[in-house]
Amino acid sequence: MMQDTASPPDDSTATASLLRQLAEELGAASVLTGDAIAGPYVEDWSRDRTGRCLAVLRPDSVQAVSRICQLCARAGVGVIPQGGHTGLVGGAQRETADCVVVSTARLKAIRGIDPDNMTATVEAGVVLQNLQVALAGHGLEFPVSIGSQGSAQIGGLVSTNAGGVQVVRHGMTGAHVQGLEMVLADGRVISSISGLHKDNRGPDPLRIAIGGEGAFGIMTAACLRLTPSHGTTATAYVGCDGFDAALALFRHVRGAVYECLTGFEVMSAACLPLARLVDPNLTPPFEAAVHVLIRLSTVTRLPLTEMLENLLAEAMEKGLAQDAVLAQSDRQAARFWALREGIVEGHSKRGYHVRSDVSVRLGDVPRLVAALEAMLAQHYPGWISQAYGHMGDGNIHFNALPPDGMAQDLARETGAGIEARIFDITLSLSGSFSAEHGIGRTKAGWFARTSAPDRLDLLRRIKTAFDPDWRMNPGCLLTGPEDAA
Ligand code: LAC
Ligand code: ZN
Repeated sequence: MMQDTASPPDDSTATASLLRQLAEELGAASVLTGDAIAGPYVEDWSRDRTGRCLAVLRPDSVQAVSRICQLCARAGVGVIPQGGHTGLVGGAQRETADCVVVSTARLKAIRGIDPDNMTATVEAGVVLQNLQVALAGHGLEFPVSIGSQGSAQIGGLVSTNAGGVQVVRHGMTGAHVQGLEMVLADGRVISSISGLHKDNRGPDPLRIAIGGEGAFGIMTAACLRLTPSHGTTATAYVGCDGFDAALALFRHVRGAVYECLTGFEVMSAACLPLARLVDPNLTPPFEAAVHVLIRLSTVTRLPLTEMLENLLAEAMEKGLAQDAVLAQSDRQAARFWALREGIVEGHSKRGYHVRSDVSVRLGDVPRLVAALEAMLAQHYPGWISQAYGHMGDGNIHFNALPPDGMAQDLARETGAGIEARIFDITLSLSGSFSAEHGIGRTKAGWFARTSAPDRLDLLRRIKTAFDPDWRMNPGCLLTGPEDAA
């Protein structure tokens, strides 16, 4: 059966009986209902949408997750996995209260760190920052870095194939997944965790769950490939006179220090005041049309600061950069990064805004930004454009802030039109309207309408093989054929 909604239980008696049995088996404290379902359980960090559910379940073992899936399968109730609530596309909120939410927060064991093998096997609820702290004790790190690492959980990172600021060097989260453990819709637990770096005994079917957004099952653990700690780092804050110059600067830096380049972030001038909404002291070292943050880091001890200094002196001679400051301390480097992260928080503080996460081939980034800014200026006077993101990956977050004082309803209605234009412009450049945040619920309609039908059909059939009744995270990522019209 293919449908985008879980079949709700026949009546409230069936629901009550399911919840009673769950409470008996998991312990009453692991089953939240009524007023206890508040805050993050129904809202992600972005607060874009509010979810509803029958109950929030907080299992503390894989066996408990398995039992939840078995009982929900028997009752025909849908299951929504929830991690650290840092998602930006509504992947963990469903508007109709016909599913249970399964929080992975208590699946937080680091099952093992194997320094020789350079892998760590961790449960889905392990918070990224906690993992990094544990790994540092072994001289290791997990090479994924995102602003929300204090809350984001490994299960969510893998399920969304999260990007972040180090993709330019290390790739997306999925690149570091050795194996997975998953609970399927019928409660079966399947594992592909072998700890082996080389194992060609056929393909691993669980890899579909990387970026699968919980629609194929609940991920309960992952074995992750690690790197040695990056012992040496150099950071620079650079001013360019436009996105063309920033791209030329990127080519220059990448060509010279390719394997050392672990971050190349860009921010248009209009973004910077937003960081001050978070902290009035967050001011850039100089004015520029485009602000660039460059980070070099290596495991090998290299004179990165000198290398970066020389590169930037050359860049200034060639007119690729107008200004540059090298961080003189870890503290100064952290202040530079706080500006970059402050922009994201500032957007959220300001209120409703259009958020996007688009990507094009690197060479098209300046054209993309110019087209998006022109579109906003021409058709939506008073709206403020914000272009920032991961230049090194061709991934720009183009946000649009409504004019001060615009009524919420009008802003949201206008914003939907702006989003459609952002997606159209991106697609006209053969780009993607989801570079790193995923599809979730906010982009599920777009995904269905714009994907090649045969590819979408294949994905739907794979989903059906994992989850025959389409009860895992219904409405997220994949919707029923009727929504594709
Ligand atoms: C960032 C998030 C919004 O790049 O993806 O800050
Ligand atoms: Zn991003």
